[in-house]
Amino acid sequence: MRPFLTWGGYALAAVIGLVLAVVGAIYGGSEAIIRWPVDAPTVRTMASHDPGAVARGRRVAIVNGCHDCHGAALEGKLFHDEMPIVRAYGPNLSRALVGQSDAAIDRAIRHGVAADGRRLWMMPSSAFSHLTDREAADLVAYLRTFRPTGATQPRFEVGPLGRVAVLMGQFRSEPATLKAEAAMSLEEVGPEHARGRDIARACIECHGPALKGREMLKSPNLTMAASYDAQDFETLLRTGIAAGGRRVGLMTQVSPQRFNVLTSDEIAALHGYLKARAQREIASADGVAVAARHP
Ligand code: HEC
Ligand code: HEC
Repeated sequence: MRPFLTWGGYALAAVIGLVLAVVGAIYGGSEAIIRWPVDAPTVRTMASHDPGAVARGRRVAIVNGCHDCHGAALEGKLFHDEMPIVRAYGPNLSRALVGQSDAAIDRAIRHGVAADGRRLWMMPSSAFSHLTDREAADLVAYLRTFRPTGATQPRFEVGPLGRVAVLMGQFRSEPATLKAEAAMSLEEVGPEHARGRDIARACIECHGPALKGREMLKSPNLTMAASYDAQDFETLLRTGIAAGGRRVGLMTQVSPQRFNVLTSDEIAALHGYLKARAQREIASADGVAVAARHP
């Protein structure tokens, strides 16, 4: 009788079996991390009801880019397609929020835990955790003005490279990011720059919790904004065109939609804050250099 498999056949079967086992472990392990439930923090937010609430909430939504990922009518959309890492859709909030309490909506926004208890991924709650209670209450009032429209969107799909990144802890849920970044905050550089610092919260999503840049997005440390003059800085925020007429990727894409609602005064205050922060960094670097020369 002919053997069922030759030795070469056995070796090939073993290799295939091993590959399948590794793929299965990566898939199963990452899926467990993605689905792992979390204790939901208690939130007591109630939407604002005063006459200016919706207009204020709309501004918070625009500056923070809610529509960039959730669509103009909050109908949801595909906003990030980078297979084999991840393909992500903003959910259809016009439908998802029906029946959710104001507090549950705020918990998703500022804590990264959805109404059904799942931890959110790819939703920048770690950046929105810097919103004040008042801003969150206004924002919920604004979200409530949208009527259900469009289809339900799929949840994000994680490709093989994305799954490896999940297992290595490089691609994290928002509650995990919140925990990891809890100790980092926007530097205080004096009361005269408090307003600018307030506006700089809108830059955290992509430039990081201390505005030192995010490796994944290749966004720079915002000390470099000190090299901008006032006019070029305002042009960058309003049009996304960087000094010297350059287009700068995601920054160029989001600025006209988000930052054009800022007043010129606000842009100047933001620039003032970033320059003061940069001066401090240079001064402390000089201090270190001087200390090294004169031990
Ligand atoms: C970079 C893209 C992005 C931005 C910007 C963004 N979101 Fe999201 N949002 C998502 C994704 C993706 C999910 C679903 C995540 C998941 O299922 O793990 C989500 C989920 C949510 C949920 C939970 C919905 C549910 O299913 O119960 C709410 C509420 C929400 N976002 C509100 C907002 C608000 C308000 C803003 C602006 C302040 C905002 N989002 C900005 C991507 C984004
Ligand atoms: C949605 C993500 C996103 C947000 C929000 C964002 N940025 Fe950026 N920004 C980027 C990325 C990515 C780059 C690098 C782009 C490149 O070099 O291709 C960048 C580059 C820059 C640069 C350097 C431009 C140059 O000369 O090369 C400045 C200055 C800047 N951002 C300021 C800001 C400020 C101030 C805010 C907040 C008001 C902000 N950004 C918010 C993504 C973002």
